[in-house]
Amino acid sequence: MCGIIGFSGKTDAKSIILDGLKRLEYRGYDSAGIALQKDNTINMVKTTGKVDNLVKIAESNKNLVGNCGIGHTRWATHGVPSDVNAHPHMSSDGKFAIVHNGIIENHAEIKKSLIDKGIKFLSETDTEVIVQLLDYYYDGDIKKTLAKISSMLEGSYALGVLCADFPGSIFAAKVSSPLIIGVGAGENYFASDITAFISHTKNVIDLDDGEFAEITADRVSVFDHNLRDIKKEERKITWDVAAAEKSGYEHFMLKEIMEQPGALKATIEPRIKDGRVSFDELNIDMKKYDRILITACGSAYYAGCVGRDVIEKLCRLHVHTEVASELRYRDPMIDEKTLVMVISQSGETADTIAAIKEAKNKNADVVAIVNVVGSTIAKLADYTIYTWAGPEIAVATTKGYTTQVAVLYMFAVWAAGKLGRIDDKKLKELTNDIKILPERAQRTLDLNTRVKKLADKYYSKQSIFFIGRYLDYAVCLEGSLKLKEISYIHSEAYAAGELKHGTIALIEDGRLVVSVCCYEPLLDKIISNIQQVKARGAQVLALAIEGNKKIFAEADDVLLVPKANELFMAAVEIIPLQLFAYYVAKNNHCDIDKPKNLAKSVTVE
Ligand code: F6R
Repeated sequence: MCGIIGFSGKTDAKSIILDGLKRLEYRGYDSAGIALQKDNTINMVKTTGKVDNLVKIAESNKNLVGNCGIGHTRWATHGVPSDVNAHPHMSSDGKFAIVHNGIIENHAEIKKSLIDKGIKFLSETDTEVIVQLLDYYYDGDIKKTLAKISSMLEGSYALGVLCADFPGSIFAAKVSSPLIIGVGAGENYFASDITAFISHTKNVIDLDDGEFAEITADRVSVFDHNLRDIKKEERKITWDVAAAEKSGYEHFMLKEIMEQPGALKATIEPRIKDGRVSFDELNIDMKKYDRILITACGSAYYAGCVGRDVIEKLCRLHVHTEVASELRYRDPMIDEKTLVMVISQSGETADTIAAIKEAKNKNADVVAIVNVVGSTIAKLADYTIYTWAGPEIAVATTKGYTTQVAVLYMFAVWAAGKLGRIDDKKLKELTNDIKILPERAQRTLDLNTRVKKLADKYYSKQSIFFIGRYLDYAVCLEGSLKLKEISYIHSEAYAAGELKHGTIALIEDGRLVVSVCCYEPLLDKIISNIQQVKARGAQVLALAIEGNKKIFAEADDVLLVPKANELFMAAVEIIPLQLFAYYVAKNNHCDIDKPKNLAKSVTVE
């Protein structure tokens, strides 16, 4: 969603901020802006559309100069995408410019009270109340004013502020929206995510909720709402700038699909000790729980569906799944005997955060499976298992999903061992079956050329169905989401046995049905579903396991993937479906890394 960057240094801030905004494009946005400060003057430009539009306007603006400034990419929530609604927002006297991520929930009341005091608003945004409050209450003490107005705001914010009275300083504040400070040599940064400044520094400070920072070229000072200094630890980012760049690939999505063997290895290998899965990060007694509830959104939820089936199978414990955006409305039966597992690549998804809060209110222990280190969800959970997939830039998740699935497999085996449901021999066998998944993923990538050819054949379809049973059905959900979100082709995933209860009415001549047939104990059942759709004129593209000869007589086209343990196939069989979505979208000339209307981390409910 929105992205922010701030810079204070000794060089030209314009190019650094514009470059940072380009690196934040992947989050999804509809307008962008920049404000720079020189001495006691702040100038800004902002515009709808791509950052490239902003770059053109900013570069030709001679007044836009300075060694410190702020920038923003906006994903509209309050008010249409327009120049006036774009950030930064500036006070009418030119004293303040601000950028904001998040939502000010009580903006309507604040706005009304300020209008009653005679203040005029220019935009439709919730954000503008912040700059108007700053201007109204400012008494020459910027820190005090920031702390004062923050106490009036309800909702979430990561805030970047310029004040004309403090040349060389940028100010930041944060509640429930990500904000990270980058510490360089003679220059410092803040941003909504590290990719904005990773090419300049890998040393970061995490700003926590309720904290403020004043950042100059040489100093970062963090303080609380009582203006007391807070000593913060620096940490070093372990991944390299190349991880956040395309490295010769046409799209981040393709690069990230290809990175999956390495990402799986990074997730799995450090957690195998003496041939057994081990989680140093989990200090829980599995015997305490009588059920597990898995909750997440989108692809992370679909990873959870795979996890549900595998954990329940191995642990013989009730495992339920619920989309995080719905969980809190159901007054769910959660208590201290429920282990709640949340899954999130970004660690910032607002609905998932709300689900964690609901679970904690009901006294459940929360385990989070997260990719982004230090993210809100990682901090909120009682226990966090990092997926270590490295930065994921494409909006459509790929390595994020497969590494989540891998963690869930490992958790299932670990928990089954702790519960005494499997003996040591079985535990070691299953651990080994997980350990070979990176190699299986690598071999699956060999299907790349063949999948591309199939995408050339099928890319013009108007609607594509995915069918599978049991674990294959869970994978179909993800395969179908991948296709629709990046190619804009209508698609549905169906539990193959459910088709005949209504949806088969949509199967007609030429309809493409992708049939996932990798869970071999149910092979005959899915073959009979294939026959049902073929009899109604469908074309069938089947995904099956190497060595399956039967399938060739049933399907129009077949993709064979390498065999792994039947419980752990999802991490392998999803790969051709990701590639299929990618090439179909490419043939349809879609903006693959930044699909329309979508954002990388969904920080609004
Ligand atoms: C789809 C996709 C989304 C996310 C969902 C949750 O490709 O990326 O469906 O999976 O928005 O995001 P995280 O995992 O960041 O909580």
